[in-house]
Amino acid sequence: MNPLLSDRINNMSTSATLAMAAKARELRNQGKDIIGLSLGEPDFNTPDFIKDAAIQAIHDNYNSYSPVDGYADLKEAIITKFKRDNRLTYTPNQIVVSTGAKQSLANIAAVMLNQGDEVILPCPYWVSYSDIVKLNDGVPVEVPTTIATNFKMTPQQLEAAITPKTKMLWFSSPCNPSGSVYSKEELQALAEVLKKHDNIFVVSDEIYEHINYTTDGHCSMAEIDGMYDRTITVNGVSKAFAMTGWRIGYIGAPEWIARACNKMQGQITSGANCIAQRAVITALNEAPSRVQYMIDEFKERRNLVLDLLSNIEGFKTNVPDGAFYVFPNISYYFGKTLRGKTIKNADDFSLYLLEEALVATVSGDAFGNPDCLRISYAASQDEIKEALKRIKDVVS
Ligand SMILES: Cc1ncc(COP(=O)(O)O)c(C=O)c1O
Repeated sequence: MNPLLSDRINNMSTSATLAMAAKARELRNQGKDIIGLSLGEPDFNTPDFIKDAAIQAIHDNYNSYSPVDGYADLKEAIITKFKRDNRLTYTPNQIVVSTGAKQSLANIAAVMLNQGDEVILPCPYWVSYSDIVKLNDGVPVEVPTTIATNFKMTPQQLEAAITPKTKMLWFSSPCNPSGSVYSKEELQALAEVLKKHDNIFVVSDEIYEHINYTTDGHCSMAEIDGMYDRTITVNGVSKAFAMTGWRIGYIGAPEWIARACNKMQGQITSGANCIAQRAVITALNEAPSRVQYMIDEFKERRNLVLDLLSNIEGFKTNVPDGAFYVFPNISYYFGKTLRGKTIKNADDFSLYLLEEALVATVSGDAFGNPDCLRISYAASQDEIKEALKRIKDVVS
C-alpha cells in the first residue's frame, strides 16, 4: 500500500499467474532447474504462414495508425470467422479489435458497469475478471462450483445469484482454469434463466474455442435462441494460433456496445498494433484445421497429465474437455506437514511444489477456488513427466 498512489491501484491484486511466473524466473536465475506448469500460453511457435504475413505487412509499409476498431478487412475476416465457426452473423459496426482479449474485457467493463453493478462470475474464473470488474466499480458475485458439476454453474445457482443489481454474467468456455466446456443444452438452460430478467448481459469469453476435445464441438452463447442481443462474444488469437505476444483480441457485440467500446478505446490506446492486425487476417482466413496439430498434441498431454495425476495421492481431478489446464482439488493436503512445512491452503501447496519439486503451478485461490491448483500442460511431454514425477516424490 502506498498512500501516494490511488485507491484504485492499491486495492487491485497482482495477477497471480504473472506473479508465479516472476518467482519461477527468479529461481531460474539463481540456477534452479524449474519446470514451468504455470503459464497460460501455448509452447508452440506462431505458424510460419502467419509470420510471413506480418513480414509482408512490414514490407508493405503498414506503419500508420489503424482505425480504432481495426482494419476493415480484418473486421471482414472476423465476420467470416464468426459465420464459419460459430454460425453468428455480425456487421462491421458490431466488431471491435483490441490489444488482446484482455483489453476487450476491460473495454466492456468500462462501458457497461456503473457503481455497484453486480457481475456474476462462476468460480473458478480467469484471474483478471474479478479485478477488471472491481476496477470499473462493479461488484463481482462469485458462484462456487465443484468437481461434482465438472466446475460448471447450474441454472439453479445462476437464478439464486441474480439480484436487482445484476448487470452481467462473465464466463469462459472452454474455461480457464478448469478446462470445462458448456454444452449447447447447458447454455440453453442458463439462457432460460437469464431471459426471465431484463437487461442482464453476458460476456462469453471464447478464447479457447478451438482447444476443445469434445465430439460436439464449440457452442457460443450468442447462438442460443434469444441471447444474441444480450451477448458480447470475446475471442482472440492468443491461444489457438500461439500468438500471445502479438496482442490481438476482438468482440462481436450488439452495435451500441461495440460503438461504446470503440469510443473508450479511442481515448485509451487507439487501434491495436497494425502489423499484428495484418497477420491476424491471414490467421483467421485459414480453416481451423490448419492448427489442428497443436490441439492434437494438447489432447495427448491432457491424457498424460490425468494418467500421471491418478497415481499421486490427494489429487482429485475431473476430465477437462478443453483449454490446456487441469484443475485438481488438493485440499487433502491442507493441515498436513510435508518435509517440515505445514500446508494450510493452496497458496502454501503451490509454493511448496515450487520450492521442493521445482515445479511452478498456480494456486486455485487466484481463480476463486481455494481448494484447487492449476496445472498448465502447455509444456512438452518430457517436461510434464519429469514435473509430475518430482511432485509425486515431494508429496509422498
Ligand atoms: C479466459 C481468458 N480470457 C482472456 C485472456 C486474455 O487473452 P489475450 O492474450 O488475448 O489478452 C486469457 C489469457 O490467458 C484467458 O485465459
